[in-house]
Amino acid sequence: MTEHLTVVDHPLIQHKLTLMREKETSTAVFRQCLREISALLAYEITRNLAMTTKRIETPLCEMDAPVLDGKKLALVSILRAGNGLLDGMLDLVPSARVGFVGLYRDEETLTPVEYYFKVPDALEDRLVIAVDPMLATGNSSAAAIDKLKEAGAKNIRFMCLLAAPEGVARMKEAHPDVPIVTAALDSHLNELGYIVPGLGDAGDRMFGTK
Ligand code: URA
Repeated sequence: MTEHLTVVDHPLIQHKLTLMREKETSTAVFRQCLREISALLAYEITRNLAMTTKRIETPLCEMDAPVLDGKKLALVSILRAGNGLLDGMLDLVPSARVGFVGLYRDEETLTPVEYYFKVPDALEDRLVIAVDPMLATGNSSAAAIDKLKEAGAKNIRFMCLLAAPEGVARMKEAHPDVPIVTAALDSHLNELGYIVPGLGDAGDRMFGTK
């Protein structure tokens, strides 16, 4: 991918996203829309995967048919809300390997601290797609990508549902080599760090917590 930020402005995505933004939308509908949008975003973020050919026999003749080249993709969820994007992506790429990065913010130093890290092997040979629905300040996403690079990842893309300009700028500064794919670029962050207009707390809305 060449663009640093791709906003996937597709009618189906935008319609489902509106349902997700509405505050009265149920947990079940929120989850279902997230699953469907994440599959559509996965379609876009995997558009230019490396291909090769394989000799096959159709009922009529032999042919060199296109197949994906290289090692299986690694999808990495940034906990906990990233998990909401996994199911839809795995619907589309069922053989992908899956990893998890858990970070919390130390309230004294305000720096991200890792509490969980488990990723597929041979990260350096895979396309790694890190996922988190909300790119808000960008601090935790940038820190998660630092960890993935430390673990060997060289080819990383980032997929989210909503991005704030502040988060995009932070990622561009920290990781200019990591393209971002999102369903929408919203207006700004409020004083509490929420994306506006946004959809509220994505984790709470997808898991039905408060
Ligand atoms: N995380 C969320 O879940 N929502 C926001 O608006 C910002 C960060």
